[in-house]
Amino acid sequence: MARRGRFIALEGGEGSGKSTQAARLAGALGAVLTREPGGTRTGEHIRALILDPDLPAIGERSETLLLLAARAQHVSEVIRPALVAGRDVVCDRFSGSTLAYQGYGRGLDTAELARMSAWASGGLEPDRVILLRVPPAEAGRRRRSRGAIDRFEGEPEAFFLRVSAGFDALAAADPDRWSVVDGSGSVDEVGERVAAAVSR
Ligand code: TMP
Repeated sequence: MARRGRFIALEGGEGSGKSTQAARLAGALGAVLTREPGGTRTGEHIRALILDPDLPAIGERSETLLLLAARAQHVSEVIRPALVAGRDVVCDRFSGSTLAYQGYGRGLDTAELARMSAWASGGLEPDRVILLRVPPAEAGRRRRSRGAIDRFEGEPEAFFLRVSAGFDALAAADPDRWSVVDGSGSVDEVGERVAAAVSR
């Protein structure tokens, strides 16, 4: 099926402000706003399971398969139909998060993860990826100042440093698709940078 809308993903660590910016961008573009893990009823159940800090440890392979199950459902139920109908889609996290968190963060093989994610999404990848970058020390402060602790937020600092370095490596490896946006400053300032990156 031919795609007519644009598929834009926002990526970044916890505390990067990407959910706020995703909502803002989607509003400005009149795009469908959605998120991962989640975006469908099934996916939101999977999200609750993956983030539940009270569950016994979920292994990195189980975690990956759950995330990809949510992605497969999300693409077929929400994202692809919207694109085919000519709508733009703004997604808060997508495959970049799998490579950064399960690959660089958890240590799984990134080439294998890329293949698995492509299988789950039926080959659909974002046209543009905006990486909201805040210095790791600032992101740590923002993370700690937020109350709720989910299973990822409870990870040690070293995990977030690996994830952050992973995002930087992914953006550097694919500069035509990825844009790195400075996430420091006010919501409006960052929003203008995001809008400029998207129209680039
Ligand atoms: P959020 O905090 O941005 O809503 O995302 C929930 C968590 O899910 C976040 O800690 C990162 C994690 N995640 C992965 O580990 N891999 C993925 O592929 C996705 C989409 C999210």
